[in-house]
Amino acid sequence: MKPTHFLLFVLCTMLVLGFICYSSLKLHLPVWAQKSQNDAEETTVVLAKGAGLKRNTEVEPDNNVGRIVGSVYDKQGFLLQLDTKLPQDLRFKYDNLSEGMCKPGYAAAKMATIYPKFKKIGPMFLDRTFKRLEKVSSYLPPFGFKTQERIIDNILSATKNYGLGDELDNLNCKKCIIVGNGGILFNKSLGSRIDDYDVVVRLNEAPVSGYGKDVGTKTTMRITYPEGAIQKPENYEKDSLFVFSAFKPQDFKWLKQMVFGEKLRGTEGFWKSVAHYVPRKPSEMRILNPYFIQEAAFQFIGLPFNNGLMGKGNIPTLGTVAITMALHNCDEVAVAGFGYDMNTPHAPLHYYETVKMSAIKESWTHNISKEKEFLRKLVKGSVITDLTNGI
Ligand SMILES: *[C@@H]1O[C@H](CO)[C@@H](O)[C@H](O)[C@H]1NC(C)=O
Ligand SMILES: *[C@@H]1O[C@H](CO)[C@@H](O)[C@H](O)[C@H]1NC(C)=O
Ligand SMILES: *[C@@H]1O[C@H](CO)[C@@H](O)[C@H](O)[C@H]1NC(C)=O
Repeated sequence: MKPTHFLLFVLCTMLVLGFICYSSLKLHLPVWAQKSQNDAEETTVVLAKGAGLKRNTEVEPDNNVGRIVGSVYDKQGFLLQLDTKLPQDLRFKYDNLSEGMCKPGYAAAKMATIYPKFKKIGPMFLDRTFKRLEKVSSYLPPFGFKTQERIIDNILSATKNYGLGDELDNLNCKKCIIVGNGGILFNKSLGSRIDDYDVVVRLNEAPVSGYGKDVGTKTTMRITYPEGAIQKPENYEKDSLFVFSAFKPQDFKWLKQMVFGEKLRGTEGFWKSVAHYVPRKPSEMRILNPYFIQEAAFQFIGLPFNNGLMGKGNIPTLGTVAITMALHNCDEVAVAGFGYDMNTPHAPLHYYETVKMSAIKESWTHNISKEKEFLRKLVKGSVITDLTNGI
């Protein structure tokens, strides 16, 4: 190549590159400029309104909430400023109670300050009037009970009990704790603190026997689904409610067979082996209101709606479903054994086993990181107390 040709070639290449750069900048610049302007505006609004809100809640608790523009809230409808205080009258009421006394309505009131859309409407378990629960009647499992009405009627006519039992139902203030299965519970000696709660909720097959020092010995209810239920009858604790949470339509068929003590026919459709016998009387079995799955997924966490059908990454974990249930039905809510202890990265996944669960199945149905964002809001807003500080 002659030097002049080479020079021409370099020049041409630079011209072409220059033109490409110029036109792409021209295309992107206005968009980018507009976006950063919006961001700036939003931030100022948030700061201004946030400050205003804080000042106003001190004096006039309820007055301001309705007028606040969208940017004070996140996409789910939670306040960005999670340390917002309760209205003054409630603060006085709770401050005047002696230390450790149960605070009536506390969790729901706290929830409503950071999430004004919150309405305490969900009964814990389905009863004979379940068809009137409009929010769940038009959704298929797991977000509702559509197509399962007859089988549910059948089950409820056998269980005949739809509450926690007289003693707990008559308490005018209930403290509940949801005990997760996390390895973070290991060797923390929280057993006696857990047993102090009025209602102790455990999940799936998490054992009590042999772990009392760390996880307590009391179990008010054990919430489970077919694949998660304890399989060996001798591993059930003496008296606890067997609370069933359905995720698939065939789960109700399984429950019917357990309630009526029928022989399990066919286990197709389950993703792992299931219990063949549940050593509980029908009167000790309950069906968890599917509203809590729906509300946790679509309202609280913001998982994909997918036309109200089960889909990739839109099923909340049972622990979060249980917490949602407690927000509707308990006066104070605590959790233990949720999340991971960052200081001990090699801790077991569960407090009762060393093997790690298949992470693949978890990540297809659940969205652990989005769920954790939600649980963090509850802890930061002091809606719930996290005894193991893992959230
Ligand atoms: C709580 O105590 C404060 C004084 O500390 C008093 O002004 C207030 O009336 C009390 N509130 C209730 C609900 O008892
Ligand atoms: C459990 O904790 C105690 C101190 O509280 C400690 O001495 C002991 O080594 C721990 N055990 C295990 C297995 O980590
Ligand atoms: C979880 O949600 C995030 C944010 O919406 C999304 O990017 C991610 O793909 C989701 N994960 C799963 C497993 O669906």
